Formats: sequence, C-alpha cells, structure tokens
Amino acid sequence: MIDIKRNILITGGAGFIGSHLVRLLVNKYPDYRIVNMDVLTYAGNLANLKDIEDKTNYEFVKCDICDFEKVQKVFLDYQIDGVIHLAAESHVDRSIKDPFSFAQTNVMGTLSLLQAAKFAWDGNFDDKLFYHVSTDEVYGSLGEDGFFTEETAYDPHSPYSASKASSDHFVRSFQDTFGLPTVISNCSNNYGSYQFPEKLIPLFINNICNNKPLPVYGKGENVRDWLYVEDHARAIDLIFHKGKVGETYNIGGFNEWKNIDLIKVMIKTVDRLLGREEGASEKLITYVTDRAGHDLRYAIDSTKLKDELGWEPSLQFEEGIEKTVKWYLENSEWLENVTSGAYQKYYEDMYK
Ligand code: NAD
Ligand code: TYD
Repeated sequence: MIDIKRNILITGGAGFIGSHLVRLLVNKYPDYRIVNMDVLTYAGNLANLKDIEDKTNYEFVKCDICDFEKVQKVFLDYQIDGVIHLAAESHVDRSIKDPFSFAQTNVMGTLSLLQAAKFAWDGNFDDKLFYHVSTDEVYGSLGEDGFFTEETAYDPHSPYSASKASSDHFVRSFQDTFGLPTVISNCSNNYGSYQFPEKLIPLFINNICNNKPLPVYGKGENVRDWLYVEDHARAIDLIFHKGKVGETYNIGGFNEWKNIDLIKVMIKTVDRLLGREEGASEKLITYVTDRAGHDLRYAIDSTKLKDELGWEPSLQFEEGIEKTVKWYLENSEWLENVTSGAYQKYYEDMYK
C-alpha cells in the first residue's frame, strides 16, 4: 500500500505533451496518484503510455471533459486536489475546417472542469490548484522583432488560438470571481516523440522517409520557436509545485526557426540516418497554398520562468532534433498505427 500524498488529475494525458507529463510525474512522484482523463480522440493513444500503464500510482479514466456529470464524479471518486489541464483540440489546420469542435472541447470542456473543481473543492482551496496549459498562439503574431511576454495583449487569429484564448479567460475569471486557485502557462511549439504526424515535424519526418511530397505553406518563411517536449513537461512540473497562484508563465527555448530552414535540417538528418545522400530529399519540397490567417512569427520570452523558478531548456535544438528523428525512425510501427484508417482520409482531404 502506498501512502498517497496527492491526487492529481491530468487531462489529455494520452496525447503528445500529456503523455510525457504523465510519464514524468508517475515516475518522479510514487506517492502521488496520477489520474489520466482522456476521451482518446484521433490524437490520444494509450500506446504512448505503455511503459507506465501498470504502475500502482497511475489510473486511466476514459472520459470526455465536456461530460460535466462524469467529470464531477471523477473529482469525488479520486478526491482530486490538483488539476493539470491539457486536453484540447490542438491542430490549427483542423480548426480552420471544423471550428465547432474547438469551441466545444477547448472552451466548454475547460468550463466543465472549472465548474467541477469549484464544486468539489467547495471554497476549501488550501493546497488545491487548477493548472491550465495554454499556448503562445493566444498572443497573435509578431513582426520581425520582439517577443511575447506575460504582459502581451491577447490577439488570437485562428479558431484554435481563439478557443485557447477564451479558455484562458475563463480560467482567470474563476480565479477572480470564485477565488479558485489557478495558474496558466503559455508555451511555444513543442517537438519530440509521440507527436501525432499532422504537425510539421513528425509529418515531414514521415514523408521524407516515405519519399512523399513535403507541403510547405506559402514561402516557408513563417517563424516558430521550438521547444523539446520533455523540457515543457519539466517546466509544468516546476510551475505546478513552485509557481505563484494567479500567475501566468511563458515557456519557450529562445529557439526560433524559419520553417524552410528547419525543414532543411530535418531533411539532412533523415537522409544521413537513412544512409541517403545528405540533402537528396530536398527534391520533395513542394510549395503549396498558404494556410489562411497564417501567423508570421511566434517567439517567447521566458525570462520570468528562468528568473523566478530557475527553469531553462536542457537540450540544444540540434541534439533534440537528432533524438526526435531517431525516435520516429526506430518507432515506425507506432507511426504506421496512428497513420492508418481515419488519418489517411484526413490527409487526402487536407492536401488534395
Ligand atoms: P494533442 O492533440 O497531442 O493531445 C490532446 C489530447 O487531448 C489527446 O489525448 C486527446 O484524446 C485529448 N482530448 C481531446 N479532446 C478531449 C475531450 N473532449 N475530453 C478528453 N480528452 C480530450 O495535443 P498536445 O500537442 O499534446 O497539446 C496538449 C495541450 O498543450 C493543449 O492544450 C495545447 O493547446 C497545448 N499546447 C500545445 C503545444 C504544441 O506545440 N503541441 C504548444 C503549446 C501548448
Ligand atoms: P504546426 O506544426 O501545425 O504548428 P502551429 O501551426 O501550431 O505553429 O505548423 C508549424 C509551422 O509549419 C506553421 O508555420 C505551419 C507550417 N506547416 C507547413 O508549412 N506545412 C504543413 O504541412 C504543416 C502541418 C505546417
């Protein structure tokens, strides 16, 4: 029997970032019970957690965060005292095709969790925390210069970022109106293992391997700030334990890349690891119609997190991308499983 010190609910724990966070917390805190609530959409995959699924301090609950009654029951059954909320629809291109599901999950789902926490904790907020995981995309788009800080005004452009911005506002409203203890972090683009191959990095690694065209939006000049997913998980752990209630923390690695430059690094890395002539796969680059409302540049200033909590990214990008490419090459079975069936249809519709 373990002496349980905390009961933490992680939503979206079967997804990309969530699975890394669940693994980190389950292994690091044997005296916490980690309850993973996930409805298992196309992006949620329990195979991401195979290595920890039998641990005694881990529980999986299949549940839609919008199902308020079921969510309330989970709070009571497991005596939840902390929430780390990651469940979301997370892909900008899908949000352009189907904005309703983004409003439903990201806004209504967050509201359902906030209400459940408020009812379950019933004004007794000692040692309770509702941690909402958000994105830098709520801040909109930067020009050539400058960074997003925690003070930057919200200016979302895609249905995805609008839904995340709305959920952030709901979280703050529960803090201000009901005194619910909350914290929010806004992170830049993540990369690493177990990312669903509709996002740029795993999609392109997969296509390079299979000699498929690489659909570069516009001129490939948009800039993203890339962070290794395990560094994000470490930041969440730190903020959850040491962050100040009511605060916002930006998370990013000061690691900006123009898409086309990043794509060329991926091509070189995959070619080398597959024993092809380095750069040979550049012939696969195919410029396609730009994404509607495509934000030009994201760049996070994470000075507050460094100064107040001492967090820094652990990996240089070159090392991170090498590890990531190797992981996808060594886990072709995982890729095949997640890219079969419904995903094929999505891909054909998206890139026809
Ligand atoms: P993901 O799409 O890989 O995973 C989302 C998970 O949420 C999946 O397991 C899915 O099954 C689950 N989910 C979706 N709808 C649900 C619902 N209604 N009920 C229960 N579970 C549901 O996403 P990700 O990339 O891991 O992102 C996780 C969080 O981090 C999101 O909130 C996202 O906005 C945020 N974020 C992501 C990035 C990034 O680069 N990926 C960057 C910053 C912030
Ligand atoms: P993505 O991984 O979808 O993340 P986000 O849009 O949330 O930043 O895309 C990263 C960048 O890559 C973005 O500028 C869009 C671009 N992109 C392409 O050029 N082609 C693609 O097929 C995809 C999926 C993205």
